[in-house]
Amino acid sequence: MIGPILKGEKVILKPIKVSEAENFLHWFKDSKVTRFLRVEGKDLNLKKERKIIKNIRKNKNKIVWSIYTMGGLHIGDTGLHDLDLKRNKKATWGIVIGEKSYWGQGYGTDTLKTVLKFCFTRLKLNRVELSVYPLNIAGFKCYTKCGFKEEGRKRKSIMKRGKYLDEIIMGILRKEYKN
Ligand SMILES: CC(C)(COP(=O)(O)OP(=O)(O)OC[C@H]1O[C@@H](n2cnc3c(N)ncnc32)[C@H](O)[C@@H]1OP(=O)(O)O)[C@@H](O)C(=O)NCCC(=O)NCCS
Repeated sequence: MIGPILKGEKVILKPIKVSEAENFLHWFKDSKVTRFLRVEGKDLNLKKERKIIKNIRKNKNKIVWSIYTMGGLHIGDTGLHDLDLKRNKKATWGIVIGEKSYWGQGYGTDTLKTVLKFCFTRLKLNRVELSVYPLNIAGFKCYTKCGFKEEGRKRKSIMKRGKYLDEIIMGILRKEYKN
């Protein structure tokens, strides 16, 4: 599904476009970027990435935005997945800031705040959830700061670079959300 353009304090979120595929390919081929992601870019190529973006735009259960700085630089993407707007009113949120020089400067936090506002005020969701690997300190801090609570841990849930990793499950409820 194609979402609206959202404005934060440091970021502008615009619906993901096929013409941005090269940036995504570049980021997903960088093992430092994919260290904490499920995706591994080894088998990815431009044709596949373009197809992935086309399918995302058509998928009714997803809204994915590209993250832009106020200066107009494309630095990553963020998305709502498994959108359940009718019955359970929940979604799973994800993010990647692919431009490493933009890590640790508040872009992730501002992106999350902007998407949460959209989730709770416009989509009227009751719950947003995510999963994060224990070694992803920046991610865990960012999500906690924005109101997510640790709800549990799936032990040795993901095979990543030859090792089984735990997944921490975090969630935020509508009644806990403070704008
Ligand atoms: C994880 C990610 C979204 C965080 O976004 P960010 O813009 O880099 O983080 P922020 O600047 O908003 O910082 C969030 C918090 O983490 C802290 N932090 C940032 N980088 C850190 C690091 N390398 N080590 C420890 N803490 C760090 C910040 O200080 C801040 O906490 P504070 O407000 O208490 O000071 C981003 O780094 C990213 O996309 N990384 C690669 C892909 C990824 O891991 N995606 C998430 C998968 S769950």
